[in-house]
This record gives sequence, structure tokens and C-alpha cells, in this order.
Amino acid sequence: MKIDLSKIAVGTILLLLMGIGAQAADTVLKIALKGQTRSFSAATLLARKDITTLTIANDVAYKKSMTYKAVPLLALLGEPDKLTFDTLQAAATDGFVSQLPMSLVKRGAAGGAVAWIAVEPPGKPWPKIPKKDISAGPFFLVWQSPEKSNVAPGQWPYALASLTGVRSPMQRWPQIAVPSSFADKTQEQQGLRVYIKHCLTCHQLDGGGEAAVGPDLMKPMPAVEYMTEKGLRALIRNPAAVRSWPKQQMTGFAKKVLSDIDLDSLMAYLKFKASAGR
Ligand code: HEC
Repeated sequence: MKIDLSKIAVGTILLLLMGIGAQAADTVLKIALKGQTRSFSAATLLARKDITTLTIANDVAYKKSMTYKAVPLLALLGEPDKLTFDTLQAAATDGFVSQLPMSLVKRGAAGGAVAWIAVEPPGKPWPKIPKKDISAGPFFLVWQSPEKSNVAPGQWPYALASLTGVRSPMQRWPQIAVPSSFADKTQEQQGLRVYIKHCLTCHQLDGGGEAAVGPDLMKPMPAVEYMTEKGLRALIRNPAAVRSWPKQQMTGFAKKVLSDIDLDSLMAYLKFKASAGR
């Protein structure tokens, strides 16, 4: 059989081009606000006038100081007056979905922690995240001076794919809410806030939420029913202290991230949700 080398060469080039095309399509950040969706490639963001070299002292993904090319998030979202939605949903390619209160994002313009979108330069990839197979790119939402606004690790979404202006999680998913007959300061209400900040990023609860990293914590059986309180508390602090395997994904919550008071509230919230369903 005679092999036509030129055809193979053309085929290979086509395949290569398709490969590059697919990669470029992946590296787009979608921003959907009030029904209008815009897409930004890494190259577009890197060419902006407000691109800045930024050093993040305690990077949550890399656990060390990192220097990035980054764009201020607020500038990317547009005119402040038009940002009337109350939550910015930040979805990552791996199923992680953070619900960022707009009050937190806006505080960046008034002395609080400032959110930036760090952009991985095409052709100059960032290192892999410790214990992961991926880098934090192509886009990574990072915070400057996070301590100013008590920003949680779950509010640093990496491998970011989209930002969407939405209503608050309680409005969107009534099944996660606590009735207003519970005062604001009750453990159940505070536990709901802890849950949204730290757990909703990876888990759903009774189908509420958009994350798809870990299991639903209510359905089909509530976690508080098949785990002892002691076991569940230990798992939240350090999952590997309860059971461990190579592909375990959930990371624990140290006291400086989730105080004992927060953990008590979270337990009260999960128990309330499990009992309210009946
Ligand atoms: C970064 C993602 C992530 C976050 C954040 C996270 N989890 Fe998890 N969780 C997982 C994954 C994934 C599993 C499945 C086991 C694994 O791979 O670690 C899991 C397992 C669990 C389990 C065991 C469920 C079972 O039946 O085995 C419980 C309970 C749990 N998580 C509760 C929580 C609570 C409460 C929070 C918030 C304080 C939380 N998780 C935050 C990803 C996460």
C-alpha cells in the first residue's frame, strides 16, 4: 500500500489546529450580568490597560506568596450603579461554585479586601496546585488583604470559568433557608451563613445549590443521621482523621477559618434541616 505522506501531514496539521482551537475555547471567562453575557480570553484580559502585577502574600491555592498579572474584578464587572444583583456566582471548571456576596466584592472599593482576576498567560502556565493535577488557571479570583474582610478560602475560586450576577442563595434555593421566625442571631441562621460560605461551594443540600464536587448532605439521607455528631465534627475539622484514601478531595477547616462557635452553629443548622424535613 502506498501511503500519501502529504495527506498525513495535512491531517496532522488540521488535528493540531483543532487542538489549539479547543484549548483557546476553554480559556474564556464568561461574565453574565443581567442577561448580557460577555466572554474574555486570557489574551484580551492581559491586553487591558488596568492589568497589574500583583503579589499575593498568602495565596490560598498555592499556600505561598505568588505574583500574578491581574485585573481588578470590579472594573471587569462594569459600572457600580448597574451592579444591583446581590450575589456573584463564581463557577469553576471542576464543579466548585462560590456564592460571593456583592457587599463583600464592593467593599473592595471602600477599604476592604480587593478582589482581582489573575490571568494565566497563554504559553506560560502557572505551576500545578499542591496535590492537584491542575494549575489555578486559566483564571483565578484572588484577594488582596483578605483579612480586611474576613475572606474565606472558599471565596478564592480557581480554574474559574464564569461569573454570574444572581439572587442570594436563600432566595434561589428555599430548601436551604431557615424560616424568618428564627431570629438573626440564632445558631440556625448563623449556621446557614457558615454553610453558604464554606460548604455550598462543593455540596448541595436537599438539591439546593449548584456545586457538584461532593455529595448532597441531605438527600437521600441527611449526613447528621448516619454520622455521629463526634464523627461529623471531626470530619469537618479534618476529613482524613475520620477516613482517608488517595483520591480524597475534601480539605479540613482549621479553627482560624471555622471557629468553634461557627462549627456549633453549622451543626445546629444541619440538624435543624434534617428534622424540619419531616
Ligand atoms: C472543596 C470542596 C469541599 C468543601 C469546601 C466541603 N466539602 Fe465536604 N466533601 C467534599 C467531597 C469531594 C466529599 C467526598 C469525599 C472526598 O472526596 O473527600 C465530601 C464529603 C463530605 C461528607 C461525607 C459525606 C459522606 O456521606 O461520605 C460530609 C458530611 C461533608 N463533606 C460535609 C461538609 C461540610 C459540612 C462542609 C462545610 C464546612 C464541607 N463538607 C465542605 C468536598 C468538599
